[in-house]
Amino acid sequence: MNPAASRITPPDQRKLVVAEAFHGVSEAWFHPEYWGVSAEPVSSGGRGGAWFIRRDTDNIVLRHYRRGGLMSRIAKKTYFFTGFDRARSVAEHRLLEQLHAAGLPVPEPVAAIVWRYRLFWYQAAILIKRIPGAVTFADCASITNEHLWRRLGKVIRQFHDHGLDHVDLNCDNILVAGEGIYLIDFDRCRLVASGDNKLSSPWRQKNLSRLRRSVEKRCTHLSDEQRQAYWDVLLHAYQHEER
Ligand SMILES: Nc1ncnc2c1ncn2[C@@H]1O[C@H](COP(=O)(O)OP(=O)(O)O)[C@@H](O)[C@H]1O
Ligand SMILES: [Mg+2]
Repeated sequence: MNPAASRITPPDQRKLVVAEAFHGVSEAWFHPEYWGVSAEPVSSGGRGGAWFIRRDTDNIVLRHYRRGGLMSRIAKKTYFFTGFDRARSVAEHRLLEQLHAAGLPVPEPVAAIVWRYRLFWYQAAILIKRIPGAVTFADCASITNEHLWRRLGKVIRQFHDHGLDHVDLNCDNILVAGEGIYLIDFDRCRLVASGDNKLSSPWRQKNLSRLRRSVEKRCTHLSDEQRQAYWDVLLHAYQHEER
């Protein structure tokens, strides 16, 4: 085994959370080197800290938390430590568990880890089951089929009605696999209390505007008119259609 792969952190300096359905997960699982040729970097739609991992039984996705935007120039992978349970990976894992248990279309969470170091800082990673045959929304062959946009409108509505504020709803965080549409990447997302969850709530509008901008940016193979027409179909389904 590669030395990096066997790097072990003292137990009081890390927290490992494993979903009930999974056994045998260890710290090594979070190092891509541990998997050798079975770990393949995800090429499309992320910020470069994700790997697809092939296993005999199932395939999983490993993601190391990395910053985007300006902050990434200062600290790419480190975050300020305010407690293991508040760390990004543990929070996302717990949220995924809730969404999955509620029957929403999300991938199944496997495990999360937090590595603490130098008193104030931590790094984090998460393991999630891979959705077989999934492609990102913008890469989906049926993007020119109204039905896909209608279904996406309904799916977003379903998540919103559950109170999920997806702070990074974009084309790369929507996966399509056959008839299924899944949302992924719940870093920093939250469940809104039912009292703050109305059809007119600003957080809902913010999610939709974020996605609208992403459609402009990522679906360049569609004409402006097509994008507008499909977006109207999505919005109509979001606002009116029965689930
Ligand atoms: N559960 C999953 N099943 C299939 N593909 C996935 C899954 N999770 C992530 N991916 C792929 O990896 C990419 C990056 O993952 P994501 O969770 O969005 O992390 P980030 O955007 O922070 O890099 C996604 O756009 C998607 O292509
Ligand atoms: Mg993403």
